[in-house]
Amino acid sequence: MNTFESVKGKVAVVTGATSGIGREIAKTFAANGMKVVLAGRNEERGAKIVNDIKANGGEAIFVKAEVRNEEEIKKLIDAAVEKYGKLNVMVNNAGVTPPLKPLHEYDLAEFNRINEINYTATFLGTKYAVEAMLKTESRECSIINIASASGLKATECFCLYDASKHAVVGLTKSCALNYAKHDITVNAICPGVIDTEIFANAPEEVREINKKSVPMGRFGRPEEISYMALFMATDMARFMTGSIVTVDGGFTGGDHNEMPWGTPDPRDLH
Ligand SMILES: NC(=O)c1ccc[n+]([C@@H]2O[C@H](COP(=O)([O-])OP(=O)(O)OC[C@H]3O[C@@H](n4cnc5c(N)ncnc54)[C@H](OP(=O)(O)O)[C@@H]3O)[C@@H](O)[C@H]2O)c1
Repeated sequence: MNTFESVKGKVAVVTGATSGIGREIAKTFAANGMKVVLAGRNEERGAKIVNDIKANGGEAIFVKAEVRNEEEIKKLIDAAVEKYGKLNVMVNNAGVTPPLKPLHEYDLAEFNRINEINYTATFLGTKYAVEAMLKTESRECSIINIASASGLKATECFCLYDASKHAVVGLTKSCALNYAKHDITVNAICPGVIDTEIFANAPEEVREINKKSVPMGRFGRPEEISYMALFMATDMARFMTGSIVTVDGGFTGGDHNEMPWGTPDPRDLH
């Protein structure tokens, strides 16, 4: 029977691993015996996370990479193969959110910046990872794209982010077909509102609005995304490809209203 043990020894690259969701994915992978190559621009944070992983008995290195730069993404993948000899898992996670405003108030530079980080980098990360996976004849490989609930459902004044994440969803499905017969699965996770640095410094009012939009009534925790990524990397998920998986407390399930119940919740009676 396959188990989570099946990820032991697999080599993974995680972009945007210096913060939030990427950091938790890197830590969860390492805690389960994977060799992890963390990428980001902030070397100090990267080095600290690598030290923490090693202090807990894990294996990891940090590679500085700006995901808007094709050459740096290529070097990141090369560094993983050079260090560990293969590549099994690529997590395209680095991403940014633009300020909320209507479409006509954005300029082309902002449009290009959001697309380059959220979408183009997913294309480049996948391209060079797949080339490395095929070249090194790595087995049971996975591309894991961190899209967003915004890749499935639009939010007013969020058009650049929504569009870039819808693009990631489309790329994931199409790519999955390309490699379905080549031992490389391609899936996306669509997180809902997750309590990372994106929300850490947001005004309480903004935090409240976001919290209320979630049927479960709370922010998700970054590690709750990492558990899905871990599952996608295991041998238990080998028949799963082209899947777009929401982890969002019910956010994309439908429109959420706070309706009082006609009958009391029995748990409230105690
Ligand atoms: N938090 C949420 O509620 C939420 C919801 C849905 C989807 N997501 C998606 O989840 C992913 C991670 O988000 P998060 O909340 O964990 O964000 P975060 O805490 O702000 O982390 C973003 C990461 O991306 C990296 N990054 C940003 N721009 C980069 C660039 N140009 N080149 C290289 N790395 C870059 C940052 O590293 P450096 O600063 O070191 O470069 C950082 O590690 C994103 O794709 C985001 O869209 C988040």
